[in-house]
Amino acid sequence: DKQSARWPYPFWIAHRGAGKLAPENTLAAFRQGASFGYRMFECDARLSADGVLVLLHDDALDRTTNGKGLAGEQTWAELSQLDAGSWYSRLWAGEPIPTLRNVLHWCTTNHYAINIEIKPTPGTEAATGKAVAKLLKKVWPAYLKAPLLSSFQPEALAAAAEAAPHLPRALLLDELPDDFFKTAQKLHCQAIVCRHPLWNKKTIKAVHEKGMAALSHTVNDEDSAERLIKLGIDGIITDRVDFFTPIV
Ligand code: G3P
Ligand code: MG
Repeated sequence: DKQSARWPYPFWIAHRGAGKLAPENTLAAFRQGASFGYRMFECDARLSADGVLVLLHDDALDRTTNGKGLAGEQTWAELSQLDAGSWYSRLWAGEPIPTLRNVLHWCTTNHYAINIEIKPTPGTEAATGKAVAKLLKKVWPAYLKAPLLSSFQPEALAAAAEAAPHLPRALLLDELPDDFFKTAQKLHCQAIVCRHPLWNKKTIKAVHEKGMAALSHTVNDEDSAERLIKLGIDGIITDRVDFFTPIV
């Protein structure tokens, strides 16, 4: 792994814990990712109805748990009863939805780095950003590399910045128009993250010239990874933790 002042984190980041090798966004997935040598993990965090941060990619519970409807409309007491493993395999039946606090504890104990994607249920952008920042202020030790907060929602990053300005931020973008770095600059982001086909010489140069790092999701094949590495990408988020082996 190459590290720099621009990107002081591991180059390889395991998507949703271990990509598609275990039920996404569960502790089982994080453990699986770690077993393949990963030392940094991306996850998706959102708020329960009573203000507990949990890991879940979709707004709704249906795809990855045995629950139904919006996760943001249920309390932690309800969410904590759900099975987030059976949809994937009987091997992981009963695996719970983790709280972000649990996962942070696992990371700090093991000295792993984390990229928390703030994935707000629509309408809770600022509240979710603020809650993530406040939790980190409370539980993340200063002697470990600070978690990287990312989001497709500038409002969530702005709220996180207000509550905890010292935490590094990354803006997720779905497209790269001419002035794509403007919002990230305004939010004092450390990085821009986007889909790998959008990165080329010109877009990476533009990001580097602004002093930011360029990260790519979700890279699952060798040709794309090689192309990005040649271009000077700073970090890669991948599902294929079984294929790309980080050099630790
Ligand atoms: O954070 C990178 C990536 O996870 C963004 O897309 O939909 O997989 O959360 P998604
Ligand atoms: Mg994500």
